[in-house]
Amino acid sequence: MTIGIALNDLLLLIFHLPEIDSTQFSSASTRLVIKNEEEVGEAIAETFRMGLVKRDDLLITTKLWNSDHGHVVEACKDSLKNLQLDYLDLYLVHFPITTKHTGRVDTTDSALETDGVLEVDTTISLESTWHSMEELVRSIGIRDCLAYSKVKPAVNQIETHSYFQPQSLVKFCQKHGICITAHTPLGGAVANTELLGTGLAEKYKKTVAQIVLRWGIQRDIVVIPKTSKLQRLEENFQVFDFELTKE
Ligand SMILES: NC(=O)c1ccc[n+]([C@@H]2O[C@H](COP(=O)([O-])OP(=O)(O)OC[C@H]3O[C@@H](n4cnc5c(N)ncnc54)[C@H](OP(=O)(O)O)[C@@H]3O)[C@@H](O)[C@H]2O)c1
Repeated sequence: MTIGIALNDLLLLIFHLPEIDSTQFSSASTRLVIKNEEEVGEAIAETFRMGLVKRDDLLITTKLWNSDHGHVVEACKDSLKNLQLDYLDLYLVHFPITTKHTGRVDTTDSALETDGVLEVDTTISLESTWHSMEELVRSIGIRDCLAYSKVKPAVNQIETHSYFQPQSLVKFCQKHGICITAHTPLGGAVANTELLGTGLAEKYKKTVAQIVLRWGIQRDIVVIPKTSKLQRLEENFQVFDFELTKE
């Protein structure tokens, strides 16, 4: 079981690692689309310089942007340079759509044309993207490519939380040994207020967020909650010392 963290959590950790059990810290996820690779790279380098974590302690993920499907190797190398790393642990295809290349790999233009129509590049197949990915990294993630993949997808990162449960997709991936990672596992900013009235938090002596994360973990899903607050970061790690029973 694992939980992951996002950029702002990583920056919090740099300054607060002595106060946090860093053995529970396993995963950092970045996104070129929100332009955070360079900052994450600097943060990771700082943790190494300070001796707070080793490269092997981290599982680092970044993603291939839509307009770079025809430039997988170049895009991956650019991400590695931004992140100041030699390798990635997981490289995700951000969306299974290919849009027109902008001429550079470090841009994240909208997939829409100025008239609002989706600008798909029909000359590049997802199969060719996948085969380029297969040459690159240890683990790659996306859905819909089992028919032609030599390297099976390791991860499918999807939105799932208490308000949104695509169970057939979750079960399909788990049946095929593909790890489901839940982005937005708390339901985003609404953060599961619906559960407040159910008495579960009182019963387990845990917060609503902890109940929801634990529920995700017990569905055999990797959860990557995000918070800007140190107290909540610690709270979100305290989910391995209890078990939800069937009510
Ligand atoms: N693959 C994709 O397309 C995709 C899409 C969306 C998101 N993601 C990734 O998924 C991760 C998390 O997603 P997310 O930020 O959308 O949703 P989330 O983690 O479900 O929710 C984040 C919200 O919950 C609050 N929160 C965090 N811990 C809490 C706690 N213990 N109690 C109460 N509130 C809490 C945060 O507020 P505070 O900051 O105030 O604590 C923030 O408003 C991020 O790394 C994001 O990059 C990926």
